[in-house]
Amino acid sequence: MKARVFSGVQPSGNLHIGNYLGALGNWVRMQHDYESIFCIVDLHAVTVFQPPEELRAKILEIAALFLAAGIDPKHSSIMVQSAVPAHAELAWMLTCVTPVGWLERMTQYKAKAAAQQTVGDGLLQYPVLMAADIMLYQAAIVPVGEDQAQHLELTRDIAQRFNSLYGETFVVPQTSLPTVGARIMGLDDPTTKMSKSAAGAGHAVALLDPPDRIRKTIMRATTDSNPAVDFASLGPGVENLMNIFQAYSGWTAEQMRTHFTGMRYGDLKKQVAEMVISHLEPFQQRYRQITSDPGYVAGVLRQGAERVAPIANSTVELVKSRMGLYTEKRGLAPPSQAE
Ligand code: TYM
Repeated sequence: MKARVFSGVQPSGNLHIGNYLGALGNWVRMQHDYESIFCIVDLHAVTVFQPPEELRAKILEIAALFLAAGIDPKHSSIMVQSAVPAHAELAWMLTCVTPVGWLERMTQYKAKAAAQQTVGDGLLQYPVLMAADIMLYQAAIVPVGEDQAQHLELTRDIAQRFNSLYGETFVVPQTSLPTVGARIMGLDDPTTKMSKSAAGAGHAVALLDPPDRIRKTIMRATTDSNPAVDFASLGPGVENLMNIFQAYSGWTAEQMRTHFTGMRYGDLKKQVAEMVISHLEPFQQRYRQITSDPGYVAGVLRQGAERVAPIANSTVELVKSRMGLYTEKRGLAPPSQAE
């Protein structure tokens, strides 16, 4: 049996090249070596208010972007988190084995909470729901960008704690980061990561941006006061542009060095822009083709949920009976030794 991969994207804001290089691109490369589940995590998105109509449209858009990136729905399951109630059910049980101190230490929680007037409880519970997403499918590998590494460490801690309290139940998952592109920075400010929710035109290249806009955003990217590329002292802005180029081109570090040493920043930016556009143009064409059939994406999502629900439900059955809770199939009978 192939090991299982699970990963997810929140349906909020516009997906950008950081999401692609940190996560989606890796999923596409990995999908045929594993049994893969790719999830649109709408229950995570509502930890911050989302207008319902916009959320519905966003879920379909993200699913179409997964398909345009090359996720093969015959082989991999593409699903919406709220379509499988077991995500929320397992999250509650995991909440009960998670010390609140572990959650208060999460850097994303601290940053998001600082930006809200009233902090919803969901924001604190967010990484527990994420652990539930992964553990529900006994996923062995979770391909994400670097910003999710801390949440994955927490997932491992929760799995281990549950296993030690109730007996071996969960696979303890591994994090898989891409070698290049695990942390793409904002083009306007290379000291902060590129983010879906950040405001400002010059911050990110969205996957659906037209070529003119991509060129404009990259040509305006913040660099430093040097005139040309010097590998001995790369500033964060130039390094970020290099990372984007290298991740899209697949070039080696040696090829990068030979080609870009001494290149003026204006020329570097032109080359980065053309590299990104040469990948995004065919991607956007596939996206338009996929969305031209309005029922297609909805069908992929229905099929994905149907395929994964039995796995999720059997994990919840096992967890509940391990904990001494009532289950539909077994009532209050304890699990057998073999399980
Ligand atoms: P989200 O929606 O913020 O991001 C989706 C994926 O994109 C990666 N990413 C980046 N990679 C490189 N550079 C960047 N600037 C950048 N920004 C984002 C993220 O690391 C992620 O892989 N909590 C998750 C969603 C989630 C999840 C899960 C992921 C929920 N349950 C279970 C894995 C497994 C999130 O908000 O990702």
